Amino acid sequence: MKIIKVPDYQAMSEKACELVMEKVNTIEKPVLGLATGSTPEGLYQQLIKKHHHHEVSFKNTTTFNLDEYVGLSKQDPNSYYYYMQEKLFKHIDIPREQAHLPNGEGDNLQANCQDYEQLIKAAGNIDIQLLGIGLNGHIGFNEPGTSFSSRTHIVELDESTRKANARFFSSLADVPSKAVTMGIGTIMESKQIILLVSGEKKSDAVTRLITGEITEAFPASILQKHENVVLIADEAALKDR
Ligand code: F6R
Repeated sequence: MKIIKVPDYQAMSEKACELVMEKVNTIEKPVLGLATGSTPEGLYQQLIKKHHHHEVSFKNTTTFNLDEYVGLSKQDPNSYYYYMQEKLFKHIDIPREQAHLPNGEGDNLQANCQDYEQLIKAAGNIDIQLLGIGLNGHIGFNEPGTSFSSRTHIVELDESTRKANARFFSSLADVPSKAVTMGIGTIMESKQIILLVSGEKKSDAVTRLITGEITEAFPASILQKHENVVLIADEAALKDR
């Protein structure tokens, strides 16, 4: 795992932007894996800025988001679909049909998961997968205990994850209890993984990620086995190192 230590959140976002742009500008048909949450927002702002300055185009890019809540419509401001439109897609030139998220709606969620896996495969797998990390070590919505060989699947969200995400909802009760997420096996097939971490509250998780035992009890620990992971973390997140 390559570790890039940066002073703060802004520098983390700028460094990540540089790496993403490098790929998007050199690969003919780049495939990006995207994340939501607080961590990548600064990166998305940087990408939008660079796009407006004509330094990057996403016309040939295909994207796959990590996860989506079950039962929230696309118009729901808390759905990840809505988040991606607002924070990135509507500001750049990616053709809408090339930007994919797991589908958490409908009667056959299992079929949705299989379709998503097929789409990723058909696109030739992910060139760069962006990841954040949960305090409990989750990646995507793969909570502790998830099999390392899991594919896109439905998950029951941990109480701690629902609490952490309640800040975006009007109350904890409104946070969905289920989500669709790319599996750990799916994520591990990405050619490169860029993991972003900022803030002191993530420092324990970062230590465990880098040096802890590789165990399904801490999903992010599997990244130690991936041959091309770049961790971009700020000083606060790396305070113990
Ligand atoms: C988001 C995702 C999650 C987050 C993680 C950290 O698509 O898959 O694993 O990356 O929960 O969230 P933040 O960035 O809000 O601290």
